[in-house]
Amino acid sequence: MRLVAVDPHDLTAVTASVELLNAAQLVDDPDDHPGIPELAARWLEFGWDLDPETRYLYVNAEGQAVAVLEVDLPRRDNLHLVWGSVVVHPEHRRRGHGTALVAELVRRAREAGRTTIWLGTAEDDLGSRAFLEANGFHYASHDARRKQVLSEVDSTAVDALHTKAVEAAADYVLERLEPPHSDELLAQLVEVTEAINDAPMGDLTFEDEVFDVARLRDIETAREGRGDRIYRLAARHRETGGIGGHTLVVVNQLRPEHAGQGDTAVHRDHRGHRLGLLLKIEMMRWLAETEPQVTSISTWNHADNRYMIDVNEAIGYRLSRVFAMYERTLTD
Ligand SMILES: CC(C)(COP(=O)(O)OP(=O)(O)OC[C@H]1O[C@@H](n2cnc3c(N)ncnc32)[C@H](O)[C@@H]1OP(=O)(O)O)[C@@H](O)C(=O)NCCC(=O)NCCS
Repeated sequence: MRLVAVDPHDLTAVTASVELLNAAQLVDDPDDHPGIPELAARWLEFGWDLDPETRYLYVNAEGQAVAVLEVDLPRRDNLHLVWGSVVVHPEHRRRGHGTALVAELVRRAREAGRTTIWLGTAEDDLGSRAFLEANGFHYASHDARRKQVLSEVDSTAVDALHTKAVEAAADYVLERLEPPHSDELLAQLVEVTEAINDAPMGDLTFEDEVFDVARLRDIETAREGRGDRIYRLAARHRETGGIGGHTLVVVNQLRPEHAGQGDTAVHRDHRGHRLGLLLKIEMMRWLAETEPQVTSISTWNHADNRYMIDVNEAIGYRLSRVFAMYERTLTD
């Protein structure tokens, strides 16, 4: 058995990994969109913030790819952490491959001096959860995926919420921001971006993420490298001129009908003015004007993030599935 790193520029290798992951997804998570090789290649090249994870194909003696291992070692913060992913092809399960890959992940974590490993699975996938527990991991947190199917949204109800939110947010003006953002604007966005650290993280061992202008610029560069069209709305406080809240949605040119919700955050000094709700409804209107082909938007929240989930449910997001995050601590 050998592990072969998937070079983002080698479309044959990327495609082999996407085909394996799609075969697993059909069994494990049929509600998700199948992966697209070109899009996966861009993720592997650019990552979230120009610090991508590494993907490996696990190949057996016959030259067949039987599993995919992903290893993400954050470099800007959370230097104790390895965020992994292990997916075994459905036809090759219960033969010890998953166990071998977790052992390899642990070996790599130790080699890199990291002490915490995260692996996730669907909360209702009891087999994968049994596997993780057998491998020394414990349940630490959970995140929910929701989808807003635009044709099913009750627009009368959303309009009524909008009217109330506009009244509550009278001290703010909304601005549509499209990249490239100036350094001055990015500097103004640093504080509100950091507000995402206030979202719950369950029992995961996790430090606040560190944001500065350089990182926000790298996140923007990575999004553009992946082919995302970026829509960001900011709520600016009229009196002080500061940005009190923002929300971001991306539409990828390779999958333009399914948009992805990025961060929505309201700085703690600006909470209580229905900014979250207003930003999200204004974003729906902006997308309807500029990306009319979008049929659905996906969003992820910590499953206990009641405030954000209430906002999302009010504007028509519905639960797709809950995912569990497991953690293992390496003690020596
Ligand atoms: C979880 C997963 C990685 C396991 O891979 P695998 O190669 O089948 O795992 P192994 O053969 O090494 O299993 C080792 C032990 O884990 C437990 N286990 C694994 N799958 C299980 C299942 N479906 N039900 C119950 N126990 C299971 C068993 O104790 C098993 O030993 P056994 O086969 O002798 O009974 C695989 O099912 C998978 O890819 N799932 C989808 C992706 C995912 O959720 N990954 C989460 C972990 S990152």
